[in-house]
Formats: sequence, C-alpha cells, structure tokens
Amino acid sequence: MDRFLIRGGKKLKGIVHISGSKNAALPILVATLLTDEPCILHRIPNLRDVRTTLKILEYLGKKVVYKDNTVTITANGSLKNNLPYELVKQMRASFWVAGPLLTRFKEADIPLPGGCAIGVRPVDIHLKGFERLGATCEIKAGNVLIRAKKLNPANIVLRFPSVGATQNLLMCACLVEGETILDNVAKEPEVDDVIDFLNKMGADIQADGKGRLVIHGKKELHGAEHTVVADRIESGSFLLAAAATRGDVVVEDCVPEHNSILLNDLCEAGFTLTITNASVHVHPYAGEIKPVRIRTAPYPGFATDLQAPWMTLMTLCNGTAEVDEDIFENRFMHAPELVRMGADISTEKSVARVTGVKKLSAAHVQASDLRGGFALVMAGLCADGETEVERVYHIDRGYENLEQKLTALGADIRRYNPDKDAF
Ligand code: EPZ
Repeated sequence: MDRFLIRGGKKLKGIVHISGSKNAALPILVATLLTDEPCILHRIPNLRDVRTTLKILEYLGKKVVYKDNTVTITANGSLKNNLPYELVKQMRASFWVAGPLLTRFKEADIPLPGGCAIGVRPVDIHLKGFERLGATCEIKAGNVLIRAKKLNPANIVLRFPSVGATQNLLMCACLVEGETILDNVAKEPEVDDVIDFLNKMGADIQADGKGRLVIHGKKELHGAEHTVVADRIESGSFLLAAAATRGDVVVEDCVPEHNSILLNDLCEAGFTLTITNASVHVHPYAGEIKPVRIRTAPYPGFATDLQAPWMTLMTLCNGTAEVDEDIFENRFMHAPELVRMGADISTEKSVARVTGVKKLSAAHVQASDLRGGFALVMAGLCADGETEVERVYHIDRGYENLEQKLTALGADIRRYNPDKDAF
C-alpha cells in the first residue's frame, strides 16, 4: 500500500488551486439517479470516493464517462434497486442511493453502512424520515429493505441536522407529490449545492436558510448541467498547512465565506490573512501561535472535518488549546500519532488538550482516517527529518493530487509503495 515520505522544515510558498468539493460531488452524482435524462457535471474531483460512486452508478445501470474532471451520466436501460455489500462497505455515502431508488421504484435494498474509524455512524435519522414519508424499513441480515406502496408528503423534523440524512430525504421528497417540509436540516454549503443541482433538474425546493426546506414534489425530473462548488475542507486544510509551516500561500478558487469560522480562528491565533471573494492569502508569520479553543459544530460552526488539521497547528502554539469534537464520538485517532511526533496532547472523551511544543520530530506514523491522515502530513511538513505516513489510501479518498499540490508549494513529499518501488 502507498505511503508518503515527507522531509519537513520547508515553508510552503506559492498558489494552490482548490478542487471541487468531494462532499458535494458524491450526493450530486447520486442525485442523477432521479432522472433517465443525461446529466453533465463539472469540477468533479478525481478521488477514490468519486470513483467508488461512479462504480455504484454503473452497477445500478447508468452509463458513466469521466474525463478531465467532467462526468457525463446517461441512462443505459432500467435501473437496479439494490446495492451489494462490496460497494457499500467501501464508502458509507453509498447509502444515499436509498432516497432516489425509494422515490422512483418504491423499494430499495441497501446494505446498512458499517461504522468507520471515526464513529458508529448510524442511519436512524434517514430511516425515520423514510417512514414519515410512508415507507417501511426492515433490517434483515445487515441489509435494510425499504418499501412503500405509496409515498406521501410529510412534515419531518430531524433530531440532528445530519448532512447525509438531509440529502437522502431531500432527494426522496423531490418526487413525492404534495408539500414536504424538512426542519432542522443541515445547512452545509454542500447541501446548498445539492439543492441547486436538484432545482436545475426541475425540482421545487425552497430553503429558508434557517434550517427549513419546503419541497413541492414533481412527477419527474429532467437532466441538467452543473459545476460543483469548491471544496471548503480542502481549502481549510491548505490554509492550515500554510500557517503551520509559517508559509506564504494563496489559496485560489475557493469560497472564503464557507470557512469564515476557521479564518477568524487563524487571525485569533496570530496570522494575517488577505481575503478576496475567491481566494485567501496566508501571510508569513514568525510570531507566537496563540492557543485558540475550538468546538466542532454543524455549519456554520467549526467544521469537524478540519478538527484534525487544526489540532496539528495547535501542537505548535504557545500555551494550551482545547479541541472539542462534538460531532463524532471517535475522531481523535490522529492524536496518539501526533504524540509520537513529539506533540503534547491528552484526550478525555470529546476533549483534547493540546500544549504547544517548540518543534515536532519526524516519525513513522499511520493514518486511520481521511482528515486525520492530512493532519499527519501537515505534521510531517513541520517536523525536522523524514516522516513516513502509512495508509495513504485514507487520504486519497478526499484530497485530489495532494502530493503534486504540496510539491508545487515547495514541500518535499513523495509517494512510494514498499511492495513495488525498489528504493
Ligand atoms: C458528512 O457525513 C460528510 N461526508 C462527513 O465528511 C462530515 O464529517 C459530516 O457530514 C459532518 O459534517 C460526506 O458528505 C460524504 P452526519 P454524514 O450525518 O452525512 C450522527 C469527510 O471527512 N448521525 O452529519 O455521514 C453521526 O453518527 C467526511 O469528508 C446519527 O446519529 O454526517 C454523527 O455523529 C467524514 N444518525 C453526526 O450525526 C443518522 O441517521 C453527524 O453525521 C445520521 C447521523
């Protein structure tokens, strides 16, 4: 399996262009199941999770052509309404095909997505929502069999603003005749992008911006063309890597307002930023990194996906910073690996206390999940010596051309596979 070798101590310098958002691309690709007409999607990042989703669409019966970040999806006969465990176990977001399949065919047989490194990740909110729309959900042998004679509009209040449940229920309600109201929905920019695409397909979805969606179901949706929004987690990750290496980096083609909490916290930590409507410039900063406490929360709160990279920055602060992970129950796996690189971190339930050290030291570490893996790459960029990061396949799920983008910023990073590459 691939590893990264990183020789740290270099300040990142230059311009990095942000890719399309993984967490918008995945549900938007799934939303093409709602029509038999062709859909053309631009700025689809070339990631492991995107390739898995394209495989799922092909398995279900779509024809997929993917070239230079553009995907063209067309019908190719009738759609299947079930998925094999092999595909679902690779990526829990595959569960989001349930909504489109249920609303079109009134039945869907989908393996329950297992948990993952960061938590159990149940789908109860998805299933309760389908039941409120008139479906029955039976769990049998690890699959969930969702059936409905007829789906009816409903008023549904999500017990938690789950991103996935919001998107799954939204896609289902698009073809349910009548007015469905979803309350306490997720307000992440990726959800807005899915709504934008569905409305381009002819759906009628009104968002009040305060957590309520009103959907007037249609008989059918037509094909559409769409360019996916910039990846706010990738842009936040590069901003943090630039700051941690005391670099001088302009993050281009991003949406700064999608990272407003992070930008505010970076300024509080002592960094100077120049912000335009599509870029953020992190200026070189040689002063003390001030400890800043963060608490992850649903958007517009501090993004849980940036908690790990933020923790790496705080390992170099002048003082002690608290990191509260309030979204996922097990999202500190990067902490013990950072401690092996000389960081001073103690964790207790959902709180990590990070006391800054002068320098991190290179080590051989393992990524356990996507964002924790990026946090370790960041630490390698800051540490003196050569850091080896194993299980890069986690990182490949969500960062397009990571080593190329970092190398262009002056980092000394290369990918190698000990089973294949002779040294
Ligand atoms: C999406 O996951 C993202 N994934 C995650 O990004 C992100 O961390 C998460 O939203 C939160 O922002 C994609 O968009 C593909 P949730 P999702 O449902 O939809 C609990 C990354 O690194 N919950 O908002 O699965 C759940 O256990 C990934 O790019 C229930 O209890 O997240 C968690 O504690 C990681 N029951 C919390 O809600 C449910 O039915 C948030 O989950 C659903 C969720």
